[in-house]
Amino acid sequence: MEAILAHIAFASCAKYQRRKTQPAWKSIDLAAPDLLLLLGDNVYAHSKKWDNLDLDQRYRKQLSVQNFRTALNNLNYLATWDDHDLGPDNSMGGSDDGLKHREEARRLFLSHIGRTVKPEWNLVDDDADEIYCAADLDGTLVIVLDGRFYREPLQQNPNAELLGPKQTAWLWGQLDRALGDEFHTTLVCCGSTLNANPDLGESISHYSAFYDQFKVRFGNCPRPIFVSGDIHRNRIYHHGFCTEVVSSGVAQRRTRGDLSGKLFNKKRNLNNWGELFIHRSHVRVNLLGEDAVSHVIT
Ligand SMILES: [Fe+2]
Repeated sequence: MEAILAHIAFASCAKYQRRKTQPAWKSIDLAAPDLLLLLGDNVYAHSKKWDNLDLDQRYRKQLSVQNFRTALNNLNYLATWDDHDLGPDNSMGGSDDGLKHREEARRLFLSHIGRTVKPEWNLVDDDADEIYCAADLDGTLVIVLDGRFYREPLQQNPNAELLGPKQTAWLWGQLDRALGDEFHTTLVCCGSTLNANPDLGESISHYSAFYDQFKVRFGNCPRPIFVSGDIHRNRIYHHGFCTEVVSSGVAQRRTRGDLSGKLFNKKRNLNNWGELFIHRSHVRVNLLGEDAVSHVIT
């Protein structure tokens, strides 16, 4: 059998208020991946108001969940945030309110969650105050984006920034690096999906100036896989230029309407998470929990 070069787990959306035990973290810990990716909504801030003191308490509560804490203690992990780690629903650091609160919210994220990786993975975090970073896992380049700190509302400006100029330039540099001979697989990780949420305004594709360039640059990289969260379901999307794997709802419920009109049980607890087994010739994706599905990317 072909060797596994890297085993990477991923998960998002953990609501302490809904799920006090969060058993999926135990499954993740037992699976013992080389790396865990936390893809946002690691906590749920107050849904109506910006309040960093309250947010601080919510991190403490989430970190008091034994299964979560044990997984973070035992595993190497990289983490990003999404709207609920920052403020109210769909909050953005580049909004008027966001500009006032984002520095402290990011400091809380980095101090409570942060990241832990092996030194040999050559972590690229040029600025320790930033959430975005990258690491090399034996030929897999893992790029973690911060899709919230610099994000501006599109309603006010069709040319709004998603990542901000500095992070965008950094990302293009990382994608150029992925073209080097040492890489066989490129993961770009973000809280937001590429375009799973056309009605909710959170999809990256809405930032069309960025997205048009991203499609070309990421599509040229070796085996491009986008890894995301946010939507409270597990999904695999084929975008042409890349495959997107989504796992959301590690400790949450379905709270959003299904665009296909399919009915779902809003009250059912999800224990969703995903894992990638990276081989030289292919990547096996296992999405586990309520929405279990398996797929092979070549
Ligand atoms: Fe969520």
